[in-house]
Amino acid sequence: MMKSSNSALYLLSCLTVLLLLPVPSLSADPDQLQDFCVADLKASMSINGFPCKPASKVSASDFFFDLSKEGVTNTSNLNFSITPANVLTFPAVNTLGIAMNRVDYGPGGLNPPHSHPRASESGVIIKGRVLVGFVTTQNVYYSKVLKPGEIFVIPRGLVHFQKNVGKGKALAYTSFNSHLPGAVILATTLFGSQPSMPNEVLTQAFRVEDSVINTIKSKFGS
Ligand code: GLV
Ligand code: MN
Repeated sequence: MMKSSNSALYLLSCLTVLLLLPVPSLSADPDQLQDFCVADLKASMSINGFPCKPASKVSASDFFFDLSKEGVTNTSNLNFSITPANVLTFPAVNTLGIAMNRVDYGPGGLNPPHSHPRASESGVIIKGRVLVGFVTTQNVYYSKVLKPGEIFVIPRGLVHFQKNVGKGKALAYTSFNSHLPGAVILATTLFGSQPSMPNEVLTQAFRVEDSVINTIKSKFGS
């Protein structure tokens, strides 16, 4: 039989494990352990993020980034542009669990349905009228047309989009609770992967003929 001091210890260990279990799922990127860790992008990414540049090589310019320039939107039918300020372009956010994007939309421009596997997103509209929408895991669609000064939030991992529904151009800034939120763009993921996803998977999933899949794939270079 267990002694009472042993069973108290056992109970305490169980409680500790139970308390610790949910911790990783409550946070996004882990908290930093020092003031800053400006990424050394020349070093290869290690298990979780980039190694820090030596503090002696860090200067003021590392901590500032210019998102004032309008992106070029007319490079595809989507007519939009993302200028990212994540760890790959703005190494100062390494390990801080934050990143931003500038999103420019030409008239009718669409930031197509996508999700961020590592971050929730919030955004503020600066110019224009923007339809913002997302779908939950229960398949419920939420949307609203936003005007300058209004903000939105997209819970982590959910599929979302923005479409410029105003007359001229539109502009938004978005922010994330990850230094590298990642983006799964549904259309290119399904129809433009390399190597290509098998047609038998896509015809069955979308309940259409081979020819439909081939037509869509041809538009995504796959
Ligand atoms: C908008 O959805 C963005 O990812 O910046
Ligand atoms: Mn997004």
